[in-house]
Amino acid sequence: MESEKTNFGSLIIGSYARPSWTIFFLLFTLITILSIQLSTTTSSLFPTNWTLIRRQQQQQSFPSSSASDPITCSGFFRKLPKRKVVMSIEDFGGVGDGVTSNTEAFRRAIWYMQRFQDRGGSQLNIPNGTWLTAPFNLTSDFTLFLNQGALLLASQDVKEWPIIEPLPSYGRGRERLGGRHISLIHGNGIKNVIITGDNGTVDGQGKMWWELWWNRTLEHTRGHLLELINSDNVLISNLTFRNSPFWTIHPVYCRNVVVRGMTILAPLNAPNTDGIDPDSSSNVCIEDNYIESGDDLVAIKSGWDQYGITMALPSTNIIVRRVSGTTPTCSGVGIGSEMSGGISNITIEDLHVWNSAAGVRMKSDKGRGGYISNVSISNIRMERVKIPIRFSRGSNDHPDDGWDPNAVPRFKDISISNIVSVNSTKAPVLEGVEGSSFEGLCFKNITLHGIAASSKWHCEYVSGFATEVFPVPCPEMKNTSSDSSWCSPS
Ligand SMILES: *[C@@H]1O[C@H](CO)[C@@H](O)[C@H](O)[C@H]1NC(C)=O
Ligand SMILES: *[C@@H]1O[C@H](CO)[C@@H](O)[C@H](O)[C@H]1NC(C)=O
Ligand SMILES: *[C@@H]1O[C@H](CO)[C@@H](O)[C@H](O)[C@H]1NC(C)=O
Ligand SMILES: *[C@@H]1O[C@H](CO)[C@@H](O)[C@H](O)[C@H]1NC(C)=O
Ligand SMILES: *[C@@H]1O[C@H](CO)[C@@H](O)[C@H](O)[C@H]1NC(C)=O
Ligand SMILES: *[C@@H]1O[C@H](CO)[C@@H](O)[C@H](O)[C@H]1NC(C)=O
Ligand SMILES: *[C@@H]1O[C@H](CO)[C@@H](O)[C@H](O)[C@H]1NC(C)=O
Ligand SMILES: *[C@@H]1O[C@H](CO)[C@@H](O)[C@H](O)[C@H]1NC(C)=O
Ligand SMILES: *[C@@H]1O[C@H](CO)[C@@H](O)[C@H](O)[C@H]1NC(C)=O
Ligand SMILES: *[C@@H]1O[C@H](CO)[C@@H](O)[C@H](O)[C@H]1NC(C)=O
Ligand SMILES: *[C@@H]1O[C@H](CO)[C@@H](O)[C@H](O)[C@H]1NC(C)=O
Repeated sequence: MESEKTNFGSLIIGSYARPSWTIFFLLFTLITILSIQLSTTTSSLFPTNWTLIRRQQQQQSFPSSSASDPITCSGFFRKLPKRKVVMSIEDFGGVGDGVTSNTEAFRRAIWYMQRFQDRGGSQLNIPNGTWLTAPFNLTSDFTLFLNQGALLLASQDVKEWPIIEPLPSYGRGRERLGGRHISLIHGNGIKNVIITGDNGTVDGQGKMWWELWWNRTLEHTRGHLLELINSDNVLISNLTFRNSPFWTIHPVYCRNVVVRGMTILAPLNAPNTDGIDPDSSSNVCIEDNYIESGDDLVAIKSGWDQYGITMALPSTNIIVRRVSGTTPTCSGVGIGSEMSGGISNITIEDLHVWNSAAGVRMKSDKGRGGYISNVSISNIRMERVKIPIRFSRGSNDHPDDGWDPNAVPRFKDISISNIVSVNSTKAPVLEGVEGSSFEGLCFKNITLHGIAASSKWHCEYVSGFATEVFPVPCPEMKNTSSDSSWCSPS
């Protein structure tokens, strides 16, 4: 177990090792010095780079810092920075009666508060009440705080959801050509942003949008509940997000993002209501979330076909840990299908998934290009999941006719281990992409109960290595030492 962890990702090493007191004191000193140096500005509490997060993470494992604390990647974000200016939405004319529109109040608040960027920062409190609003933008050095009894309700008027440019890595809206509706809570090019509270609620009232989608009258791609584009140092925590029109939390082209302690809910048949979709983003920590929705609980993405390939902005250094939930038609954790900018350095562990179509799913296709590499998926518990492990191809899902049929994805160093699934229905289905390459695909210690004896592994265009796996894998997953020592048994 110990050495296995070490091989699978050094990110976890620190957390499992028991370093000596000397190292502890060194680290303690270092961190003290860092905090003193940095404590003069509010942005100080944000890590400037992943090294800091990792260091904090290592500090976590020391016996003195409460041995019962679970390991975490949320680093410096755990201590909320104090903002110089703290005001309530009521100070900007907000009315929490569930009927009055607060769109202007939010815009006035942000317009006022943006002046405290780099000048101590600001915090906007949403008190108890029901606050109806159209989409609004956030600003930098800013905290949005929702009280426990605060409910933010999204406007039901399509005209109040402006159309914005498509993302360059998608070339068009994901569902419809051209632009797309802005997200309810939106940020572009901002830094040091916190969206948190005392488990207050944001309700996207997505039903109207799902109906537009179902009855095929949707004109533009639906908006997310929360989208941050090209932003740094973001914490999203301790809130309930409900009924997103489309994917719920979408950080795209972002760095240093923590999503922690969130409850994300949508009806189990609500279309494309993914929980958390890090997209072409790096240093993302997704921990301790409960998600119940109509699509993947967490899906890691990086752009679509030729647009994603051209942009070439990968999703990298992402940890998904202690996430639980259900999605009857989709998967606990998905990688892709949009992965054209590449996806690497991914750690997924300690998930609990039940009553779902798939547990772990990797999706790609011809035309995607890109790569999925250095992915470690371990300690997953599943109950009543139909296909616990699934690789699949899209169904001719391309942005336009400009996709390159020769652009096939590459798969390298993907390990899936320590999985227990009970009452599953089908053996793994591994459908690769014709012409794509596999190197170091390794399955280890996987036990899938409940599968009918007639259900055999289904493998196409994949190759790899499996050991201690039940039921017996397909011949493509050889039980021999693989080329790469990385996933050979020891
Ligand atoms: C990240 O932070 C560490 C510690 O402060 C520093 O040594 C390192 O140079 C930084 N790296 C970058 C790329 O900023
Ligand atoms: C989330 O809430 C918990 C429990 O109230 C609290 O201990 C923690 O500091 C909060 N964390 C963040 C990041 O808001
Ligand atoms: C706000 O609502 C919460 C839960 O609904 C309640 O516990 C709390 O007392 C309320 N706070 C105020 C100031 O009314
Ligand atoms: C919010 O930001 C988007 C771009 O990201 C911009 O198009 C829009 O005008 C902004 N809205 C407001 C109210 O500032
Ligand atoms: C937050 O509220 C949701 C319901 O809105 C509830 O299911 C969840 O348990 C609450 N989380 C915490 C930490 O209290
Ligand atoms: C489709 O759904 C929307 C939203 O509920 C509704 O306003 C519209 O009348 C529906 N259109 C048709 C053709 O059913
Ligand atoms: C993956 O992680 C390793 C070690 O931390 C780092 O050297 C490498 O640059 C990372 N890859 C990417 C694409 O960030
Ligand atoms: C693989 O990813 C882990 C964790 O993200 C990182 O520590 C390790 O250095 C990476 N390995 C390579 C070869 O990039
Ligand atoms: C195999 O995986 C299970 C489930 O995660 C775990 O409890 C067990 O310790 C693992 N066995 C080994 C030998 O690592
Ligand atoms: C698995 O299925 C059996 C037989 O239907 C049932 O008795 C058992 O409770 C199920 N267990 C779980 C965890 O779903
Ligand atoms: C693979 O081989 C090892 C030893 O050769 C054996 O113990 C193990 O059961 C085999 N695994 C499978 C899945 O056949």
